Amino acid sequence: MNEKTVKRKRIGIIGVGNIGSSILRGLLAADEGRSSGKIFISDVRRENLKSLESEQGSRVVACESNGELSKKSDVIILAVKPNDVDGVVKEIAPFMDEDKILVSVAAGVPTGAVERDLGEGKKVIRVMPNIGALVGESVTAMCRGAYARDEDEAIAKEILGAIGTVYSVQETDIDIITGLSGSGIAFFAAVIEAMAAGGLYEGLPHDVSLAISAKTALGAAKMVLAGYEPSAIKKMTASPGGTTIRGLYAMDAKDVKAAMMEAVIEATKRAREISSKAQ
Ligand SMILES: NC(=O)c1ccc[n+]([C@@H]2O[C@H](COP(=O)([O-])OP(=O)(O)OC[C@H]3O[C@@H](n4cnc5c(N)ncnc54)[C@H](OP(=O)(O)O)[C@@H]3O)[C@@H](O)[C@H]2O)c1
Repeated sequence: MNEKTVKRKRIGIIGVGNIGSSILRGLLAADEGRSSGKIFISDVRRENLKSLESEQGSRVVACESNGELSKKSDVIILAVKPNDVDGVVKEIAPFMDEDKILVSVAAGVPTGAVERDLGEGKKVIRVMPNIGALVGESVTAMCRGAYARDEDEAIAKEILGAIGTVYSVQETDIDIITGLSGSGIAFFAAVIEAMAAGGLYEGLPHDVSLAISAKTALGAAKMVLAGYEPSAIKKMTASPGGTTIRGLYAMDAKDVKAAMMEAVIEATKRAREISSKAQ
């Protein structure tokens, strides 16, 4: 990928709520040289624009409309709620020529549905990030529509790389990744919270227990990413008659593993329901 090509791209973000503003902050933190250091933003909530302008200064340019933003940008990141996608895509379609790339963040909205409203030949990339974007640790799944090419996906990958790790996937897998990662980060948050509550119950101060629980999760995640199988971590920790096997027994007795699997399966099912309505 030619880095200069990416850096020359003017980036706009429509909808700067939870995810849109995280992407914005990640981009600004990662590379001040993009878009001559400026990113265009638009949102129906003027207060979102104002607070980002006061936080980021001249590095962001608030646009009066989504149309103005689309006119000024080469890569348009669409980060509005799924129900608002249809209306926004129709609104910006007249400003989207075939060189521009629309990157849609919306859960459950297939590339085909966006292309239908945007017009034939228009480049669409669909991504599923997660809220880890706030700390530069988004897991982002990416696929492309019928008209986007390898180089368009590479540009989107580099842009979204500013907020974490990007995986190229088949569009048919996006709903699963929505369950596993888009929603899954909240499942891990619930586990961290529950384990911290256990520490609190036994007498640790709340903040100490929460920090230790989160750091322990981080350690487990880093070990798995370093190549240790989860079963190996359990084996290395559980000694005969010890504390770990007692805790693992308690988890099995409550079928925690089945419950965690179920969480991903149910979230995936819901993502598929939403997708089928948007077809
Ligand atoms: N949050 C997550 O963890 C997450 C993870 C992965 C993917 N996503 C996807 O990311 C998208 C955004 O989610 P979010 O949680 O960031 O939502 P959000 O916080 O509600 O942000 C969306 C923003 O867009 C604004 N908006 C609505 N209609 C608009 C329009 N026509 N033009 C311009 N701006 C408009 C909203 O204003 P109003 O509030 O007034 O409507 C809001 O400020 C969704 O499609 C979601 O599926 C979210």
